[in-house]
Amino acid sequence: KMKSFVGGLMSRMTLEEKIGQLNLVVPGGGTVTGAVVSQDVDEKIRKGNVGGLFGVTGPERLRKIQDIAVKNTRLHIPLIFGLDVIHGYRTVFPIPLGLSASWDMALIENSARIAATEATADGICWAYSPMVDIARDPRWGRIAEGSGEDPYLGSRIASAMVKGYQGSDYSKGNTLMACVKHFALYGAAEGGRDYNSVDMSRIKMYEYYLPPYKAAIDAGVGSIMTSFNDVDAVPATGNKWLLTDLLRKQWGFRGLVVSDYTAVNEMSAHGLGDLQAVSAQALRAGLDMDMVGEGFLTTLKKSLQEGKVTLQQINDACRRVLETKYKLGLFEDPYRYINEARPARDILTPATRAAARDIAARTFVLLKNNRQTLPLKKSGTIALVGPLANSKNNMLGTWAVSGNLNDAVTVLDGMKNVAGNDVKIIYAKGANITNDTALAKNVNVFGPRAEIDAQTPEAMQQEALNAANQADVVVAVLGEASEMSGESASRSDISIPECQQQLLKALVKTGKPVVLVVMNGRPLTLGWEAQHVNAMLDVWFPGVEAGNAIADALFGNYNPSGKITASFPHNVGQIPVFYNHKNTGRPLEGKAFQKFKSDYLDVPNEPLFPFGFGLSYTTFSYSNIKVSNAQPAGNETITASVTLTNTGSYAGEEVVQLYITDPVASVTRSVKDLKGFQKIKLQPGESKEISFRISPEQLKFFNSDLKYIWEPGEFIIQIGTNSEDGEKITINWK
Ligand code: IFM
Repeated sequence: KMKSFVGGLMSRMTLEEKIGQLNLVVPGGGTVTGAVVSQDVDEKIRKGNVGGLFGVTGPERLRKIQDIAVKNTRLHIPLIFGLDVIHGYRTVFPIPLGLSASWDMALIENSARIAATEATADGICWAYSPMVDIARDPRWGRIAEGSGEDPYLGSRIASAMVKGYQGSDYSKGNTLMACVKHFALYGAAEGGRDYNSVDMSRIKMYEYYLPPYKAAIDAGVGSIMTSFNDVDAVPATGNKWLLTDLLRKQWGFRGLVVSDYTAVNEMSAHGLGDLQAVSAQALRAGLDMDMVGEGFLTTLKKSLQEGKVTLQQINDACRRVLETKYKLGLFEDPYRYINEARPARDILTPATRAAARDIAARTFVLLKNNRQTLPLKKSGTIALVGPLANSKNNMLGTWAVSGNLNDAVTVLDGMKNVAGNDVKIIYAKGANITNDTALAKNVNVFGPRAEIDAQTPEAMQQEALNAANQADVVVAVLGEASEMSGESASRSDISIPECQQQLLKALVKTGKPVVLVVMNGRPLTLGWEAQHVNAMLDVWFPGVEAGNAIADALFGNYNPSGKITASFPHNVGQIPVFYNHKNTGRPLEGKAFQKFKSDYLDVPNEPLFPFGFGLSYTTFSYSNIKVSNAQPAGNETITASVTLTNTGSYAGEEVVQLYITDPVASVTRSVKDLKGFQKIKLQPGESKEISFRISPEQLKFFNSDLKYIWEPGEFIIQIGTNSEDGEKITINWK
């Protein structure tokens, strides 16, 4: 039915109208993340020069725009309306790196479902999410937007997000079409510098970087966005191998391929020729929609006349845009997502706020808790200090374009809400986020700057010390400003900014127990902090219910259960440091430096906190690892299990992680790979046997011919609490 409808429509379209469908615009006032903004948008729509639009929200505004397309164009083709719905809509959830730390697929799916409900209530039918770029370099600011360093976890999350956004059918009106991005390898930008070049072997791509995109496609994602970087020396946006051979032919993707913001034009800066040449190359490579730059709109007709592209290529791209609109139900009802009654009913409700609070608390990672400093007692005096302790401006995190900073609950307010009457809270800002004026001014469309206070740094610090001296415990809320991570926010120094470190050192000197609450969009270097504070809770950027959720965790109303999904390095020189590295020919045995081994003179090989690490107010023990058969053969499925016991005095959840090592293979393998996990809740004293099914599917890897195979032999199964610590058993698979 779709084919004949779209075929019929296309038979009536002029060449110009077909090319118009490939044009995606952002009117001024939308989410502008490049040098170009679309001009004369209404007029272009009228002329049939626009296929879709993004960055504009609200049923009233979108109805007017849709009216132009549906009522004032020759063929009445509706527009598609997109937006960066990244971690929630108006109900902003934790940044994606935080969400991933929950290791809770139902929770992540639910966050995307709520985001879809709110976004569609505001007229949006296309979300530029999930961002699934694997990142091993925390200097890269956009690590905040993804799920960290692991392809297995990243794939599970990609799939959960797609299901959350799209449901079983994305034409329902309260679900929307997802867009997996950025295809491909954007997270591997050299040196962690945003938009930088990527150069990678195919085997590394297939094994570690491509699986999450593929998982999103297998989950039925409707669209995919190309990345800014080059892949194998050809920009992704014009890379035929990537967009046609791999994506369409190997993986069978049938949906829509859209470029990133002016990425077609940027192929010229990459060095591939003028706008006409790069636009033709992008179309030939398999790109369907050109975001903002209008290279397609302004040059494809000429390229067709000159034989640089074929009509077939233009038709294919146009057909995919129209099929997308068909699948969204827009031909049946162009106003399906435009309902003026919905925003008040569906956006930022008490129920979505409650969900945001619950979700946020489940993403926090307890990095340290000496002598049970946490949870805090609901009595006594607390000094709450730090530039992020009472800052509405920095709770939502990067890419919260439809969030409202004023909706955010500060930590101070959250603490007051949760603490009860027996707690006295003394607040002091203590320091600026940064005293570096250039960094503080790093403001973009997504958020505020890290304001510099009128008070002198000395006076601010003194106020914080006065508060600390009167208190039983100090809670210091420190870290990055929202926009110190995210797009175009790479850092070469990923520590807590200097002025905040000075504050923390002074607080530690008072001798009062210090709880550090860290806000961050990336792993930070926290070596000094980890040694000197009593407790450390990483809360990422928690979203709209930040303060309440943080207070829930600090006071023990919720027992933290998150685990980090990207390794925290000791220092920047260690980067990239990630758990699934290769063994090398000269592996270091033990931890101390050894001559002529693969190591550093001045820093260990291991990160400060490894992938999968996170503590709880309770303690868990692992024992009795066993397998149902230590000598399986062929396609058999076995089970591997451990006994997990809650050995502490709080109920708590533990993310039980399964890793497999393949010590002998035809190619070099990582030292271990995550192959399964389960989040388990246990009462104090309770034990449970936790089992994983293992089949040859989990033993597979890409060999030198890029065949996905497994090879018989020895495998080491590790089940435990993080990527470094676990119970191990060796099996022999014939
Ligand atoms: O979706 C984003 C992308 O992640 C970065 N460039 C702009 C796009 C649209 O806003």
